[in-house]
Amino acid sequence: MSLMRTHTCGALGPQAIGQKVKLCGWVHRRRDHGGLTFIDLRDRFGLTQVVFNPAKGAGLHSQAKELRPEFCLRVEGEVSKRPPGTENPKLATGRVEVVATSLEILNPSATPPFEIAEDSEISEELRYTHRYLDLRRESSRAILFMRHKVLQVIRRVLDAEGFIEVETPVLTKSTPEGARDYLVPARLNPGKFYALPQSPQLFKQLLMVAGFDRYYQIAKCFRDEDLRSERQPEFTQLDLEMSFIDEEEIYALTERVFAAVWKEVLGETLAAPFSRLTYAESMRRFGTDKPDLRFGMELADLTPAFGETSFEQFRKVMESGGAVKGFVATGGAVLSGKALDALTDCAKQAGAKGLVTVRVGKGELICPMIKHLGEPALQEAVSLTQAKPGDLLLLVAGDEELAGSVLGALRAHLGEQLHLIPETGFSFAWITDFPLFRFNPELKRWDSEHHPFTAPHPEDLSILEKDPGKVRSRSYDLVVNGVELGSGSIRIHRREVQESVFRVLGLPAKEVEGRFGFLLNAFRYGAPPHGGIAPGIDRLVALMARASSIREVIAFPKTQRAVDLMTDAPSEVTEEQLKEAGISIRRR
Ligand code: AMO
Repeated sequence: MSLMRTHTCGALGPQAIGQKVKLCGWVHRRRDHGGLTFIDLRDRFGLTQVVFNPAKGAGLHSQAKELRPEFCLRVEGEVSKRPPGTENPKLATGRVEVVATSLEILNPSATPPFEIAEDSEISEELRYTHRYLDLRRESSRAILFMRHKVLQVIRRVLDAEGFIEVETPVLTKSTPEGARDYLVPARLNPGKFYALPQSPQLFKQLLMVAGFDRYYQIAKCFRDEDLRSERQPEFTQLDLEMSFIDEEEIYALTERVFAAVWKEVLGETLAAPFSRLTYAESMRRFGTDKPDLRFGMELADLTPAFGETSFEQFRKVMESGGAVKGFVATGGAVLSGKALDALTDCAKQAGAKGLVTVRVGKGELICPMIKHLGEPALQEAVSLTQAKPGDLLLLVAGDEELAGSVLGALRAHLGEQLHLIPETGFSFAWITDFPLFRFNPELKRWDSEHHPFTAPHPEDLSILEKDPGKVRSRSYDLVVNGVELGSGSIRIHRREVQESVFRVLGLPAKEVEGRFGFLLNAFRYGAPPHGGIAPGIDRLVALMARASSIREVIAFPKTQRAVDLMTDAPSEVTEEQLKEAGISIRRR
């Protein structure tokens, strides 16, 4: 294999018995037993038992007795059959052991801050501070191997589909994807900054203008935003773009890529085509544009049940055009009063004025608001939702979107709490027909629902500037198990349409010229119709590995506060560096 070793620690089996071998690896465990010393030698391929027998040399044996966990070793010896009854069927190498004839300590190890074992409970902080040790653990390492395999399959499939991989700049200009930019001072251009790309969006469009036709990139993206379990400040997208295509071709291509990944990495067949839901339908039925379709509990409009109610809060909502919406949490009547109070707090935090809970019993309804709402109205709501004894009906009154989003969040929460979500299986769906713009009431302006380069529905071009709220877009999201995995659209390729969108967004012509002049200019030279998508690789691997956070699938991730615990980045820089970059720090 190499001069240092003949085999890895996962390679030796009965066929090697009698061979002289050299192995390198780390001390996983040492045991002294019956006058012998045993070492489990570990590398990324597996474990091999090495035996040190005083009969082979007292010096060698006493050297072995000094070995401690995580010492890095080179061992020479002879492969031998393990004595009957000492085989380990759980190990690939479990039927043999290497009887050592020489030992070289390549590097001793300090006592590790945690045991390199699957069953040791280690805080995240400790793991990420010593991520190089954490990655010695099988489960952490296996996830990065899965990630590697996923990328290999993606590259192979896209190559076969005629895509070419192009790298786009990292020191670039702001690409609006809805987050803050990470800025890099440009020493050679004092007072100016590069922005790290939030995505390669504009470059991939320019590659279409350049005639590349089918582009992809495993692209690093950078976004300065508040972090959650599925967000990191730097993350990776499978960014792709195609010319002369429509939505259907992008859906089909994406489905082929995912089907191959699932088949080759998980050995599972993905049901394709994926289901499809319009944005409006998704909001109406699930209160979110990222519905988890692995379980039911759909939202219903229960306004008709409360038409006659004298309960003032419901009346007011209905009179001002709002709705009473609700859903049935299957088996939710078992929840304690305390658990229901927690749900009410959740609803209030999400913006609702309150939450009405109705425990459905055999012939009776238990609801703290029963006097106010009246039993007949509640009975009607129960019958409209087909709630059964043992279920819990949850009601929220409010502006339709708000009531939906509050209930959507409670649905997702209760799905987990009541164990209604199957632990296996993936439910893929395309969410289509998003609006092009969303009104931002705080800033009193229209924002793009996706990004400003998304094409409007051709039938809505005439109302683009007149009635922006009604304009549909040609964008789509790919949602899996309640997570937005990817997002894409057919793009604007005509200069005048792009200018019109910038006007709706309230961008002054001068700013447009400064920020996007290069794109508008490119559109003057026969830009082809084009579109694409960008699934997030971190989210994809996290889903496949059933990881609790995308941190688990990133080699060196950052914390919720965007800190790398290992390197302690971000960190202060020297006065000299600041001076060179022309920056002075204003203390807050
Ligand atoms: P979007 O902004 O929706 O679209 O991003 C696409 C996908 O990238 C992943 N993603 C993230 N993953 C981890 N941490 C983050 N902070 C983060 N932000 C986004 C998600 C998301 O679905 N240029 C467009 C794509 C296009 O239109 O082709 C874009 O970037 O999985």
